[in-house]
Formats: sequence, structure tokens, C-alpha cells
Amino acid sequence: MHRLTNRRILLGITGGIAAYKSAELTRQLKTAGADVRVVMTPAATEFITPLTLQALSGNPVHLQLLNPEAEAGMGHIELAKWADLVLVAPASADFIARLAAGMGDDLLTTLCLATDAPICLAPAMNQAMWRDPRTQQNLERLQKSIDIHLFGPGSGAQACGDTGPGRMLEPDEIARRCADQFETLALSGRYVVITAGPTREALDPVRYISNHSSGKMGYALAEAARDAGARVRLISGPVNLAVPDRVECVQVESAQQMLDASLAELGPCDLFISAAAVADYRPVAVAEHKIKKGAEEIMELRLTKNPDIVATVAASPKRPFTVGFAAETRDVVHYAQDKLKRKNLDLIVANDVSAAGIGFNSDENAVTLISSQGEQVLPQTQKQQLARQLINRIAEYFNEQAKTSGKDS
Ligand code: C5P
Repeated sequence: MHRLTNRRILLGITGGIAAYKSAELTRQLKTAGADVRVVMTPAATEFITPLTLQALSGNPVHLQLLNPEAEAGMGHIELAKWADLVLVAPASADFIARLAAGMGDDLLTTLCLATDAPICLAPAMNQAMWRDPRTQQNLERLQKSIDIHLFGPGSGAQACGDTGPGRMLEPDEIARRCADQFETLALSGRYVVITAGPTREALDPVRYISNHSSGKMGYALAEAARDAGARVRLISGPVNLAVPDRVECVQVESAQQMLDASLAELGPCDLFISAAAVADYRPVAVAEHKIKKGAEEIMELRLTKNPDIVATVAASPKRPFTVGFAAETRDVVHYAQDKLKRKNLDLIVANDVSAAGIGFNSDENAVTLISSQGEQVLPQTQKQQLARQLINRIAEYFNEQAKTSGKDS
């Protein structure tokens, strides 16, 4: 089921008594990490209310093809492109017939015509309707013409009192078969938390101490981890970057806020990557009002040490696999090795911030990935490209450790 993390499932519900099971199906797909959008035919709304599906999917339910209001939100072509997989459960005999004929006479059939995603059908109907040669021919025709997957139907007692084939499969079985449509990726179903950007340490209501971190590396890592199948949460200091699609983001300012947000994820977090440039010190006190300019030529600030976020995470009893960064200007590998040990990290990514064109605020970076066993150089390249290489390497170490510690999923 972990293969459903971040997957976009368009769930079509057609008219049949099995539609009541689609509520549980929606819940199970959501629990497995999928983003679910529901489309209902008019007949489906006679069996179960759109409100139920809206509450369970967390998204508005799509009901009509020609509805200007809905089209202004997410138009039908956009919705067809959005889906990684279209699942119609229950799929009635009438719907299967219209799909086989290539009709586009309502929103769901139109979406099925417009989408490039695989279409999965979980048929549900009376046993005589299922056995009817016309239904069987429609299914044959469909299977010959498009990428279609049939989930069931099962056989047994039916709501109408008959016994035989035509029962919709149970929601957990349908959800499992949906998951089977996707490949397992290096971080499928893992929960990755990444700190990124600078922190701001307030001096007074209008001033702060900070640094030049752009957050680009942390954000690129978030995208790469998402693409490796993980659920990803960024804990981000103030940056000028858009939050990547399908990535959660908590915005923070100070190191203390970043620490609190990080500790709140311990437990569920599998992999913690500390890419933030956390301010080492903060002002001892934050003035309540703007500090006024005085007569003195020199002003002294008293600073106190900030908590070390990554070291605190690594010292926690619920310690996730923990990766730090070390931005250095000399003896890069030596200092990074020292930090790896001192902060009790699993891996550290060392980069030379004295070199022109890499590191802070630039689009490229070059790093050395260091573990207790050795080091590996990842040469200069675009941060996005480097992030993918880093996530692949980190995932290898992480999966190796998960295997030996028995936390393999
Ligand atoms: O000690 P130094 O700042 O060089 O260590 C860098 C690593 O420690 C980075 O991963 C950084 O995100 C993390 N760090 C932290 N909290 C701090 C200081 C650094 O998490 N207060």
C-alpha cells in the first residue's frame, strides 16, 4: 500500500448499491497516502451523498460536465490530466457499456476518454447483468482497445437476493490492487522531514539576524524525495521559493520554532534531513519596541547559543535516520567528519562554501557525502540534479539500515 503515497487517484462512482463501500474505499486510499478526487454520476448520488465523499477525500466532489463553477476550479481536461490512475468503483453495467462505446455523455465517461492514465474498473451488478453476453462483449471490447484493468467482480450473495458473480470487491482489496499498479520506489511510503532555508533571530520588532541561505538545496531535496515515493514535509525558514507540488510545508522563522516543528514530527518521521542554515546564536533578549539610535558609536549585542536542531533530533529516543549538512570554507571533509561524530549523524553532506559558483544562494553545488564507512564525491552540477543523486545515495544507506534494524516495510 505504501506505493500509493502522493499518487493521484480519480475515483469514479457510478449508480449501484455497492456505492456505499466507496466511502470506505476513499478512506483507505487516503490513509495509504493517495490524493483522491471523486467524480460521481447522477445515479451514484442516489445511493451516497457527495458530502460524505467530500469529507472523506478532503476535496470537492465533481458531479457535472457542464458546470461553469466547477470548470473554473478544475476543468474536466485538467482533472483528466491530474490523475495518475482512474478507478471506477462501483462500475455499473450501464457505465461499462457507455465506456466501451466511447461515449462522452457525462463527466466520468468524458474523463475516461480524455485521460492518459490507466483505468481500473471494479464492476458491481446483479449476477444476470454480469453474465449477460452484452456486458461480457463490452468488457472484451474495452480490454482490446484501451489500457484497462478489471478488479473482480467477486461472487456471492447479492443485495437483490441473488447469488453469483457481480459483487464489488471489498475496499481493502481494491486499494491493494490500485497500489499494485505502481512500482516501488527507493523511498516509497517513507516520511521524510527536511529543514531548509535560513532562520531569523529577532532583535526587536523590526530587525533580525540571519544569513544568505536561499533554501534551494533543501527545496530540491524535498522534490527529489517526493519523486522517490516519500511523503515529504519541509520545515522552512523565510525563503523566496514556491512550495513544491505534493510537498507539505511548515513555515517558521526562528531556530526555536524550527526545533519545535522538527520535534513534533519525531515518531512518524523515518528520515530527517537538516539542510537549513540555522543561526548559531540569537539575541539574549528581544526588545519589545524598536531599539532607538543612541549617541554611542559602538553598539554591542549580547547573543546566546541556539539549540542544535539536528543534534537534538539525533539524540532523541525516537531518532529517525538523520542526515546533516556541513558548509565549510577549509578542511571541508575533516570538519564534516568531526560533525558527523559529534552530532551523532548517520550521514553528513559536506560542501565547500568558499568556492565560487556553488553553495549558498547559487544554483549549483558540489558535495562530499560522508558516512562512518567512507566518503563519496558528487561533482558540481545543478542543485536539482545533485538533489536526486543525493536522495538516491541517502535512500541506499537508509534502506540498508532499515533492513538490518528490521524496520523494512
Ligand atoms: O554546526 P554546523 O552549523 O556547521 O552544522 C551544520 C549542520 O547542523 C546542518 O545540517 C545544520 O542544518 C545543522 N544545524 C542545526 N541546528 C543548529 C545549527 C546547525 O540543525 N543550531
